[in-house]
Amino acid sequence: MKVLICYFSGTGNTKKIVDKYCEEFSNKNIDVDVYKIEKGDFNYNLDEYDMLGIAYPIHAFNAPSLIVNFVKNLPKQKNRKKLFILKTSGEPLALNNISSYKIKKILKKKNFVLTNEYHYIMPYNIIFRHSDNMAYKMWNTAKQVAPIDCEEILKNKESKLGYIFMGSFLAWLFRIEFWGGRFNGKKYKVSDKCIKCQRCINFCPTHNIKINDGKFEFGDKCIMCMRCSFFCPTNAIKIGLFNSWKVNGPYNFNNYDEKEEQGHKKYCKKSYEKYFKKCNKKIECYKKENEIK
Ligand SMILES: Cc1cc2nc3c(=O)[nH]c(=O)nc-3n(C[C@H](O)[C@H](O)[C@H](O)COP(=O)(O)O)c2cc1C
Repeated sequence: MKVLICYFSGTGNTKKIVDKYCEEFSNKNIDVDVYKIEKGDFNYNLDEYDMLGIAYPIHAFNAPSLIVNFVKNLPKQKNRKKLFILKTSGEPLALNNISSYKIKKILKKKNFVLTNEYHYIMPYNIIFRHSDNMAYKMWNTAKQVAPIDCEEILKNKESKLGYIFMGSFLAWLFRIEFWGGRFNGKKYKVSDKCIKCQRCINFCPTHNIKINDGKFEFGDKCIMCMRCSFFCPTNAIKIGLFNSWKVNGPYNFNNYDEKEEQGHKKYCKKSYEKYFKKCNKKIECYKKENEIK
């Protein structure tokens, strides 16, 4: 069995899940190749693979434009090819299910058959900063559920996300973000805190940032992935109209600090509780089943 996972990750959350999948597949002696979509030199022969995985962060209830364009360019398969989708997002609202509607439609026409789809909650890279405790809890949950999900994929146990009424239409409306991102990207500015390390230039997945006579220029190819501002070591990048939603600096996923206060306590509280409860139930059931064996 050979698996190809094609992914995009703006600030590393989705990559963490993809890495976990690779670890799990490899542990089960499955050959797995990983393709980072932003590299843009896709030359894999899909005939060699039994399964294709697509992974992405949810952007405005959609897959990022980079993902949509990537799947549009995939060749039509002669024979049906199994497909799984994994996505990450900051809040567990069911509305996030619509993010894959567009790519599922495109991939179906190309003979890819979706068997499994999973959604992992990871900390926000825009809107507000989750506490490190919440990030720890999210990752700790995801890294226990992901191996179970991998097993489901390999054992042909189908798993799909719930249907949302008028989802395709809603997703289409939210795709204004594709245009909005390009518009807003041109409004990015660099403050005098900048140390000219040029990390943003080197990191940008669409090569949208340039430096000219010591001045930063932001073009019209921004996909709002947040990588430049998130990883800026001096928090010097202003993200246009969304500056008050900026999140700067990586999360500490590995440390639970009893004393740390969780901000935004009420925000989507029920949704988060429901998500963690569902995941814990899945983990417990899996443990029990395997103890019995
Ligand atoms: C432009 C933008 C739009 C986003 N829209 C959503 C959204 O609609 N729903 C959601 O739950 N999270 C949303 N998020 C949060 C990300 O999906 C989440 O933080 C994700 O795990 C980031 O993954 P990455 O680190 O692989 O880029 C958005 C993030 C960005 C940058």
